[in-house]
Amino acid sequence: MTPPDNRQGIELPVPDDAAIEHSMRLVNAIIERIEQRGGVIGFDEYMQMALYQPGLGYYSASLPKFGAEGDFVTAPEISSLFGYCLARQAEALIAQGCVAEVLEFGAGSGKLCAQILEALPLLSRYRILDLSADLRARQQQYLEQRLSAELFHKIEWLDQLPRDFDGIVLANEVLDAMPVHVLRKQEDWQELGVTWRGQGFEWQAIERTAAVEEMRRIESRLGELPSDYRSELNLNYTPWLKALAESCRRAVVLIVDYGYEQAQYYYPARGSGTLTCHLRHRVHGDPFVYPGLQDITAFVDFDACADAAEAGGFDIVGLIGQGQFLLANGLLDESQRRAEDQEPVAQLAISQQVAKLSLPQEMGEQFKVLALQKGLRLEIPAMQRGRAYG
Ligand SMILES: C[S@@+](CC[C@H](N)C(=O)[O-])C[C@H]1O[C@@H](n2cnc3c(N)ncnc32)[C@H](O)[C@@H]1O
Repeated sequence: MTPPDNRQGIELPVPDDAAIEHSMRLVNAIIERIEQRGGVIGFDEYMQMALYQPGLGYYSASLPKFGAEGDFVTAPEISSLFGYCLARQAEALIAQGCVAEVLEFGAGSGKLCAQILEALPLLSRYRILDLSADLRARQQQYLEQRLSAELFHKIEWLDQLPRDFDGIVLANEVLDAMPVHVLRKQEDWQELGVTWRGQGFEWQAIERTAAVEEMRRIESRLGELPSDYRSELNLNYTPWLKALAESCRRAVVLIVDYGYEQAQYYYPARGSGTLTCHLRHRVHGDPFVYPGLQDITAFVDFDACADAAEAGGFDIVGLIGQGQFLLANGLLDESQRRAEDQEPVAQLAISQQVAKLSLPQEMGEQFKVLALQKGLRLEIPAMQRGRAYG
């Protein structure tokens, strides 16, 4: 048996034998789970295993993921200007009385942590909470090499949420990596689960699930969606934000991710959803290709997130495009400062980084910053220029 490969006819690289063997071990674990559940599992359970199955899932195993060698590039991998601007925002919050500590979720390669600590040495502590033990080990190795001993010793890796956290919480591209339910509307809504058919995973409808109920509620608010419509639903925002609110005493939370407000997320013309897979910088829509070797993500529904945050006990500060957020936090001044006295090639590279991070047709609008706070009433002037929420 070979692992399920490319059935959409997309040109994808073929992994080597060791990678295929790794994928097969995960495929077998998923098949076993499907059998235990009577023949079908929710896509959320499939995605959870594909990304986080201990030792086998995409984020849990030791494959390269970020940057040129990996499958995709995130903002801190593009440029340290991203971390610089977040540090300036953190500094402005600290000047208003927020405690000078950061808690970062899903720290990836560790680059954002390094960028922020270097740009904001007044931070007293930087805590990291990541689901992936492999990434945590890589973060430790990278940060120990990259940072001075003084800065490195400010970092603490957590196994669970802290109690009574005071400070700034960051989550860059974490929510898009949380498992989603997949739903399809034909006559009525159905959840699409995953079954195994001998040669590969396939979609199989499951009716009357909690996700179907929630999707009906969303549709009744937004207006009727056409039949043959398909999209995703993330039911993790509520438990995640509730647990986070319970662990925060006086905190500001900055969630950065690609996504839409709900009316755009479930826009009638977006009939095939937002589920996206990344394999060696190829972007496609088949989550059943090489399980464990490719990233699977879904865009963030920022309204659902804001609702879940309020229900959990946060106040909503605002939502703004990443471009506007970075521009309000010194992106242009810092890029000009860095470009001074550089050769033209280096200057060009800096302006390309600025463009990638901030232009509307690049990451500037599709990526957004949702700011929440609890126990504080701080100002984020950039947010007042964005869409006010709540
Ligand atoms: C797409 S990567 C982003 C990494 C990094 N923030 C960056 O921007 O390069 C998603 C990260 O979120 C982590 N993650 C996903 N769900 C999480 C959760 N509930 N708590 C903590 N980390 C989580 C993954 O292990 C992974 O490190």
